[in-house]
Amino acid sequence: MAPMMDSPSSLWANRLRQNQGIRSLMEDLGQVTGHPDEILLGGGNPAHIPEAEAIFADCFRELASDPCLSALLGDYQAPIGNDRFRSLAAESLSPHLGARLTKDNIAFFNGSQNAYSYLLNIHSGKMKDGSFKKILLPIVPEYIGYADQSIEADAFLATKPEVIPTGNHRFRYGLNKTDFDLSEIGCVALSRPTNPTGNILSNADIEWMEEKTKKQNLPLFIDLAYGNPFPNLIGSEEPIHYKEGRTLSLSFSKIGLPGVRLGIVVSNPDTIETLSSYAAVGNLAVGNLGVYMMEILFRKDILTNLAKNVLRPFYDKKRELAVSIFESEFQKRGVEYEIHEPMGGFFLWIRFPKLSVTNHKLYHLCKDKRLFIVSGHYFFPGLNSDFSHTQDCIRLTYCRPEEELARGAHILSEIVASHQAKSK
Ligand SMILES: Cc1ncc(COP(=O)(O)O)c(C=O)c1O
Repeated sequence: MAPMMDSPSSLWANRLRQNQGIRSLMEDLGQVTGHPDEILLGGGNPAHIPEAEAIFADCFRELASDPCLSALLGDYQAPIGNDRFRSLAAESLSPHLGARLTKDNIAFFNGSQNAYSYLLNIHSGKMKDGSFKKILLPIVPEYIGYADQSIEADAFLATKPEVIPTGNHRFRYGLNKTDFDLSEIGCVALSRPTNPTGNILSNADIEWMEEKTKKQNLPLFIDLAYGNPFPNLIGSEEPIHYKEGRTLSLSFSKIGLPGVRLGIVVSNPDTIETLSSYAAVGNLAVGNLGVYMMEILFRKDILTNLAKNVLRPFYDKKRELAVSIFESEFQKRGVEYEIHEPMGGFFLWIRFPKLSVTNHKLYHLCKDKRLFIVSGHYFFPGLNSDFSHTQDCIRLTYCRPEEELARGAHILSEIVASHQAKSK
């Protein structure tokens, strides 16, 4: 029999086929069998919160009985959304983002992930003047979903963050201002709160960076998937406002609607215009369901109250509970651990400084016991120096039921306890 031939493919395709964190994580979500022993602490699904789900179900019923249903199902939107929806979003978001936005500042996408795959490629790679520009991630670890979005290889740049001890078993990453260098950079991107760590970069640090990016006319992307104005999981930190030079992205996923796939980009009209061309080419149009749901949610001003009265209290309580469950199991079994200050978002970022196997191996050991976590090594795109945290940290979601968190904590601490070096 003739040997199987590799199908011809681009360098980009080859890179995409290599094992990416985001694919492995999303496939784990999709391969869940429903077995009662499964413990799903890996992916970024929001929690199922009955009060929020009741509001979304009401929206759905309203749409199903509305004469607009025929347009919702049967007509394309414009690539980044019809003008009336963009105007409504501009009007509704302006007071929350401290700016007077118009429809020309707004673009809708099929999820903010979809928006980023365009945004990052607009501002990185080979430029008109022949130079090659990179995407600076000012603090890694950073969101696993950015890595591999660039069509060009080696498009990310990151430096080792500051590691700031903040108390017993606690630390925090800080902005490395000493090595902050924009000479090869086309744009700067950060999530706030940060996925995976729950870090929330201060406005003072953001303004410090912005002073430098502005001088070089470089865009600063701030990903607000977990941030203000919804779900607003930012603890006691100040909200982010829109300003010239910033591109903000919002998502409906973390309020409880990841299946709807709606992301909203807020930027200057020129960037929005370019995004519209990209969206037409890549998507034809944004999906209708998200924008029609948004219309109801914004017109009735539902999301601010939902964030304040339901989402924030729910996730704050869940975070405290998860930390106490995991710490008590770790301490019972003599596990050495450090937790990144859980300031916001959905995740705990945990370091096991004495782990004798890699975090990737730990992921597999956990998966063998039906416990899904995410290995931390994926979250450092563009970092080319040695940093032990790339090998000994993991990410866990705390959006799962208490009983599942407890079983997860038990299994994880047993595995880590039996893979700790005496000294490392
Ligand atoms: C920081 C961050 N940004 C963006 C996204 C993408 O969200 P979506 O495409 O569902 O809007 C996620 C999803 O997990 C995320 O964690």
